[in-house]
Amino acid sequence: MSKKTVLIVSAGAEAVHAVRRAQDMGLQVLVSDRDSSAPGFSVAGDGLLASTYDPSGTADAAEDYVRKKGPIHGVLTVAADVPLTVATVAQRLGLPGISIESASLAQDKLAMKERFAAAGIPVPWFAPVPSPDALKWLVDERGFDLVIKPVDSRGSRGVQRLSPKTDLSAAWGIAAAHSLSGRVMAEAYLTGPQISTESILLDGQGFTPGFSDRNYELLDRYAPFFVENGGDLPSHLPRIFQFAVMRTAEAAGRAMGIQTGNVKGDMVLHDGKPYVIELAARASGGYFCTHEIPLNTGVDFVGCVIKLALGETVTPDELKPRFQRPIVQRYLFPEPGRVISVSGEDDARTAPGVEELIVSAKPGDVLRTPQHAGCTAAMVLTSGATVAEARARAASALAKLSVRTVPEQEAA
Ligand SMILES: Nc1ncnc2c1ncn2[C@@H]1O[C@H](COP(=O)(O)OP(=O)(O)OP(=O)(O)O)[C@@H](O)[C@H]1O
Ligand SMILES: [Mg+2]
Repeated sequence: MSKKTVLIVSAGAEAVHAVRRAQDMGLQVLVSDRDSSAPGFSVAGDGLLASTYDPSGTADAAEDYVRKKGPIHGVLTVAADVPLTVATVAQRLGLPGISIESASLAQDKLAMKERFAAAGIPVPWFAPVPSPDALKWLVDERGFDLVIKPVDSRGSRGVQRLSPKTDLSAAWGIAAAHSLSGRVMAEAYLTGPQISTESILLDGQGFTPGFSDRNYELLDRYAPFFVENGGDLPSHLPRIFQFAVMRTAEAAGRAMGIQTGNVKGDMVLHDGKPYVIELAARASGGYFCTHEIPLNTGVDFVGCVIKLALGETVTPDELKPRFQRPIVQRYLFPEPGRVISVSGEDDARTAPGVEELIVSAKPGDVLRTPQHAGCTAAMVLTSGATVAEARARAASALAKLSVRTVPEQEAA
């Protein structure tokens, strides 16, 4: 029998892990991306040139492929926040996947929260903020304990916590500039532990092998922006709270109309109660599903997502953590400026407990003052006998890496 073909939307560095996993499963892999030099193309060996953010362009290219070269049996994405592109291809080619409606909700934070609120899923108070003046009125009414964000962006871009020092017009402008549609919304800022979840729903039943305590130690340093500095697994939260967070993320997936599919949750445990900040309808980026979940639990999350995309059976047993191995992720944020040298990579890579090291900074790059975790120079994943040991190992591995910068006039 000839091999089945799977389309992975995105040929980016993180998608490469999914390409390899699919190849290991005996599949033929296609990637789609507008950048023909993206690494996924050479690993997959075949692909479609179409922007991941262009649903109909990607679906056109996929249909063209099917006409000329042969069938595509499944479509998915890893690490790219493009559920609508995946759902559009699935609909056009008649492949398994979530509905266009669910994917559209996942790409619009306001519509998503309206749906959650209507379904009784706990979310922070929220409202659209159509203008800088509207933001000023809102602050007069509710005070500064607010977050403003673009309705449709990703990677924390333009997400800001307000304070009495905030220039409200400028903050609104930053959020609007990051929105594709120029729309801004505000939410109550919820204090409490922040958690990343990653779940698969099977006929409405949720399974959440991915559960990470997000590390926001840099919140004050890079305020008003939310710069996440990795995370710790397993969670330090008592199991009863972990279960409550998992059940809420899974219920949020169902409220979005997803009965079978995978969802990535940004959750907060506020006053002991789980809230949904956001639920993304795609496999996670930041090495969560590709690295952290398998290292922490032994669950082959990406393999399960590929099977779902092909309409194959995934069993609850496949999603059950086999173990809870301590894993810590940390990023390196050097002094902003132009990178003049990167050294110590080999020492860092061979340091105790290092499971993965990605050094993204190269001489000549300009590192800006971080406004989101994407502004990093390197990422390390470490294991240890305890989370505390894995954490110490991450710190010492990153300390071996030297990314020297010289000040550079920061662009606005
Ligand atoms: N209302 C809130 N209360 C507390 N923290 C918040 C709130 N809104 C956003 N945050 C923090 O900011 C992060 C980014 O916000 P959000 O998820 O809405 O934006 P995003 O662009 O989708 O970012 P990402 O892709 O990193 O998830 C959240 O994961 C959370 O840590
Ligand atoms: Mg988010």
